[in-house]
Amino acid sequence: MKIEQEKNILDLNLIVKTIKSALPQEKEYIPLHEPYFGGNEWCYVKECIDTGWVSSVGKFVDLFEEKLAEFTGVKRAVAVVNGTAALQICLQLVGVKKEDEVLIPALTFIATANAVTYCGAVPHFVDSEERTLGLDALKLRSYLKDIAEVRGNTCYNKITQRRIKAVVPMHTFGHPVDLDELVIVCKEFHLELVEDAAESLGSYYKGQHTGNWGKVSAVSFNGNKVITTGGGGAILTNDVELGKLAKHLTTQAKLAHRWAFEHDMVGYNYRMPNINAALGCAQLEQLPEFLAKKRQLAKKYQTILSKIEGVQVVVEPSFAISNYWLNAILLAPEHAGKKDDLLALTNDLGILTRPVWNLIYTLPMFTECPRMDCQMAESIATRLINIPSSVNL
Ligand SMILES: Cc1ncc(COP(=O)(O)O)c(C=O)c1O
Repeated sequence: MKIEQEKNILDLNLIVKTIKSALPQEKEYIPLHEPYFGGNEWCYVKECIDTGWVSSVGKFVDLFEEKLAEFTGVKRAVAVVNGTAALQICLQLVGVKKEDEVLIPALTFIATANAVTYCGAVPHFVDSEERTLGLDALKLRSYLKDIAEVRGNTCYNKITQRRIKAVVPMHTFGHPVDLDELVIVCKEFHLELVEDAAESLGSYYKGQHTGNWGKVSAVSFNGNKVITTGGGGAILTNDVELGKLAKHLTTQAKLAHRWAFEHDMVGYNYRMPNINAALGCAQLEQLPEFLAKKRQLAKKYQTILSKIEGVQVVVEPSFAISNYWLNAILLAPEHAGKKDDLLALTNDLGILTRPVWNLIYTLPMFTECPRMDCQMAESIATRLINIPSSVNL
């Protein structure tokens, strides 16, 4: 039963009290998401230092890639310096070129748009759906029917005359988007699918790990993610040849030789250092336990917060299992104006809460980029608050 409140009045103190009740009472400061090191981290990192293999050579990178591929169910994982670099290479691997357009959600972290820009391409912003917080495939389809045309095997924007090469869904806070719907759109409009799975390690769409739908996909192991390598990312793919190319491109395109410096392409120094991969191996061993704990916390929040009128707790879509990377609440539309008050109240108490990112097209570098009407993304952005979600809560 919902807790009774006067109509149209949102009891902010009740929300704060309820969030607080789910958190450890003894802690004075509760971050949004802090890393947890409870396994072999010291041991593996020490091994790197003791042996001197801290940088671009060492056994942990191969081991990390192998274990990551096993966990996510892909044929090949390539460990890189961060998730943004992984995304950039993914886009290059599917053939995104200068002046192409790439469809991305307006509601995403800046890295998605930046990676498109690094390729000389132009982000083209798409609306989100409330159920997943991610890209709205049905709305995208009807929009493309209006503004795009397929000539041969290539999709063009009829307004800008640029090629639309790819679409990059992002699994917001770990909640998978409806990938089947999106695959249909990609087939119809000849678009490459690249998943920004930076936030969705441990999230499954219809029983299969995210990152398996894109031709290539990107994951992040930044310090705020479900598991961390300090800084790091990975490219996931089921295309073995693309996987080899990803490795080659991210390791300065150096040809194997005992001593000669032979390079056959302009490559990148994006390889994950061994010492970071060592941390990653230890973290991966604990991932199932982390996911179970995060699910427990999400359930706790759902039980207590969903009783409050005017507050909706974001839950995994029915077709998915979410890693619940970051828990989120949505205020009812009539209470959108209270978001900042709630942020202030919680942060004043040392409970770190955060709004969602500014919609990318509102940022000065991206205001001129093409976009559809993003009404839902705009609504979500005015109402969403992330609440503490660390593994150890
Ligand atoms: C949606 C999204 N894409 C890309 C990235 C980039 O990852 P990184 O910070 O490892 O570069 C992040 C996270 O940081 C992210 O949340």
